[in-house]
Amino acid sequence: MKKPRVATIGLGAWGWNVGRCFYELPDCELIACCDLSESRRMAAERNWPGVKAYSTVDEMFTMAELDAIVVSSPAITHYPLVRKALLADYDVFVEKPFTLNLEHAEELLHLSEARSRVLMVGHLLEYHPVVEELRNLIRSGELGDIYYIYTQRVNLGRIRGDENALWSFAPHDISQIIFMLGLEPVDVSARGQSFIQNGIEDVVFLSLFFESRIMAHIHISWLDPHKTRTTTIVGSKKMAVFDDTAVSEKLRIYDSFATPQQARSYGEAIQVRFGDIRIPRVSAAEPLKLECQHFLDCVIKRARPRSDAYDGLRVIRILEAAQQSLEQDGIPVNLRGEDELITAPERADRCWSALRV
Ligand SMILES: NC(=O)c1ccc[n+]([C@@H]2O[C@H](COP(=O)([O-])OP(=O)(O)OC[C@H]3O[C@@H](n4cnc5c(N)ncnc54)[C@H](O)[C@@H]3O)[C@@H](O)[C@H]2O)c1
Repeated sequence: MKKPRVATIGLGAWGWNVGRCFYELPDCELIACCDLSESRRMAAERNWPGVKAYSTVDEMFTMAELDAIVVSSPAITHYPLVRKALLADYDVFVEKPFTLNLEHAEELLHLSEARSRVLMVGHLLEYHPVVEELRNLIRSGELGDIYYIYTQRVNLGRIRGDENALWSFAPHDISQIIFMLGLEPVDVSARGQSFIQNGIEDVVFLSLFFESRIMAHIHISWLDPHKTRTTTIVGSKKMAVFDDTAVSEKLRIYDSFATPQQARSYGEAIQVRFGDIRIPRVSAAEPLKLECQHFLDCVIKRARPRSDAYDGLRVIRILEAAQQSLEQDGIPVNLRGEDELITAPERADRCWSALRV
């Protein structure tokens, strides 16, 4: 097959990185890009020789011979742009958040299936080598029964106006957690506050509860003095900490645990162990490049992406429930309802029901 001809939409702070990856990857030809800003278009044509920059998507779709579209424009544009691209029969990679509501996510999923198009959502952490390693550690049972997980995604700035910190940041944490566990939460609750813009939460504390007593807690904020990107997993045999801001040695496995014992006396009822810390060697490959390559592999092989539209839909469903909880002062919102799309048989392989090992 010929190399897919790719175009990107949105050349902003993140979209530029996405465009750069597709420009550098040898399995495709980045032939076009589109942005409303003239200076971004000029910068793209200057930095990526051979790439034509357009000011409107309609003009680009008419003028360029394309196979696949990458949508890296603001979240509010995702639904109309992805819809337009699918209706024009292009394969699509859309940045997170997939959409800003479940109805739009479902419509795009159906559209991609009806037109046999690849539709992939930019859940970057599912392609992160450390997250893959953590998933393997959980699946192999090395960490034991998982007690709880917590993540922190906080920093100062990039305060968005179209979506709150929950919709902007939490898709990363939610997709990472359900990918690692292979489970979906049964209920969620969230509390947060808007300090800077009315009705747009800057800080959110989100809790997910799973059938098997596993808890996950997600702290997100764009009002914080530190840039922190950490995930901590506490298991019955070992614990793990992933620090994505570390330049190297991003993952540490603690051979430590606390567990109830067959007690002969009160002093022996709980065993606590403080063991060695292991730093496994994990690939330092750029997650974004791995993610973009995965999209190209799916386009070329006509395969279903790891972070496909079902995955996107699951995350949007959790975000909608979290938003509902946020608006009602943190009341738990149940997610147990039967959802035909989410439980589609072909997705069963993604969700191993018994995690306990
Ligand atoms: N995966 C990640 O780690 C990650 C990180 C940051 C942002 N993102 C996501 O990437 C997307 C882009 O984020 P960003 O930080 O680059 O945003 P940004 O605001 O910096 O840039 C958006 C760009 O899109 C352009 N644009 C807006 N509407 C357009 C349209 N209709 N047609 C063409 N161009 C249009 C704007 O001119 C601007 O240059 C968002 O969905 C964001 O959530 C993902």
